[in-house]
Amino acid sequence: MISEKMVRALNDQINAELYSAYLYYAMEAYFQFNNLEGFANWMNVQTKEEMTHASKIYDFINDRSGRVELAEIEKPSVNWASPLAAFEASYKHEQFVTDRINKLVELANGEKDHATASFLKWFVDEQVEEESSVIKIVEKLKLVKDSAGSLLMIDHQLAKREFKA
Ligand code: FEO
Repeated sequence: MISEKMVRALNDQINAELYSAYLYYAMEAYFQFNNLEGFANWMNVQTKEEMTHASKIYDFINDRSGRVELAEIEKPSVNWASPLAAFEASYKHEQFVTDRINKLVELANGEKDHATASFLKWFVDEQVEEESSVIKIVEKLKLVKDSAGSLLMIDHQLAKREFKA
């Protein structure tokens, strides 16, 4: 039986994942407005991925006979000073999510809740991937600085990202 405390913590994580989706959706809008459609596409895929993270946890709580309780989602920022600033904010956010996942694992281990600890392993691995993909774009954007041509080349690359369920 999953504990009430663990269910509460997982419900909080659903909220954090939905906030992540909301943040990246706001970033998509920022890039759309600035005519950087490849960057916007990358954020659109990111938004969809965050929705799947939330629904994985949602399904897991149900599978363990816990109760899913949705809460309000905080308003995200809607503007950034530059594409680099947006991706730096994204990287900082992913580090925050990684920290949250680690704390969930610690809670599950502390409760000897092996099923939840095993479920969370997917998220531990996913966060390595998430941080890595964002920091690579941050580093590229730092390299190109104010070169519009190079920015458009990155935009072209990011247009190719596809959502895989
Ligand atoms: Fe669901 Fe980007 O962490």
